[in-house]
Amino acid sequence: MKNIYSNILKVNNNNLSKAINLLKEKELIGVPTETVYGLAANAYSSKSVKKIYFLKKRPLKNPLIIHYYNLKQLKKDVELNTNFFKLYKKFSPGPITFVLKKKKKSLISNVATAKLQTVAVRFPKNKILRKILNSLDFPLAIPSANKSSHISPVTAEDVAQEFKDSLKIILNDGPCKIGLESTVIDLTSRPKILRPGLVSPAAISKKLSRKIKVYHESKNIRAPGMLKRHYSPGIPIKLNQTKAKSNEAFIVFGKKYKKRKNIFNLSFKSSLNEAAKNLYRILRLVKNKNYKMIKVCSIPQTGIGLAINDRLNRAAK
Ligand code: TXA
Ligand code: MG
Repeated sequence: MKNIYSNILKVNNNNLSKAINLLKEKELIGVPTETVYGLAANAYSSKSVKKIYFLKKRPLKNPLIIHYYNLKQLKKDVELNTNFFKLYKKFSPGPITFVLKKKKKSLISNVATAKLQTVAVRFPKNKILRKILNSLDFPLAIPSANKSSHISPVTAEDVAQEFKDSLKIILNDGPCKIGLESTVIDLTSRPKILRPGLVSPAAISKKLSRKIKVYHESKNIRAPGMLKRHYSPGIPIKLNQTKAKSNEAFIVFGKKYKKRKNIFNLSFKSSLNEAAKNLYRILRLVKNKNYKMIKVCSIPQTGIGLAINDRLNRAAK
């Protein structure tokens, strides 16, 4: 595809230095991660972080995830505990975010943590982002690079579509490998999953040798900033459907569905990982094709299927 956005840059040493310099100057840039594309800012600078909230139109009470290169850098900002070390060793760097207690001396901007006494932290696996983090002396606040409540971006073009030329640089590393946001786990008390992702409750339970609760909105008070309506294509969505009219988009999973113009298959070979990778791409595609209604077949509620159903439920709210 021809690049119609001049702010999408390929990754080379020159463009990496430009990106790093912009971050040092407290500017925002678009960055790839293994989960979804993000909007990065200096997490120690409120001036810088405020730009994220402004550009995304994000409510100030919704805290950001702080991204680190290594433990050495992290130790200054949060209290670490045994459960954290167990999960960190197994799953980091990778698609898991830990909520931990913020240290009094922490340099993280209060704006980034929405004035909470806790911080969500993550060690991304994407090599380019790791290179950037390693050349900075501050961590990065990085939310998904979409306007608040919109579909998360999985390519550099998606980011450009969301923010047009408000960003000087979006580093292009091709489509995201995972395609859904990280698992968020609260480790400040008894571990509980706040947002499902590729790292499953079963895998976490095994590592911590205990059953892990997955937080359910209907039963609990909402966690800070967990917006009910989210990932929205702005079109009505009906879940667990078995058929659709020809003027409706039908998002399906598995080989039993015919190939038709309005049928979008998340994974013909019934792979949930492939479905996760395709979900946001297909939702965005359907939105751009101006369908008036989206129907979705039922998706197995196992492994990353939990995360797919979580996002679909929110999109349908
Ligand atoms: O995969 C990801 O995590 C991506 C990439 C870019 O790293 N980032 C991402 O960020 O999904 P965002 O801002 O779109 O979602 C962050 C989620 C929000 O639901 C927020 O409320 C929650 O993490 N969160 C942040 N800090 C928190 C805290 N201290 N306690 C509980 N939840 C928190
Ligand atoms: Mg987001």
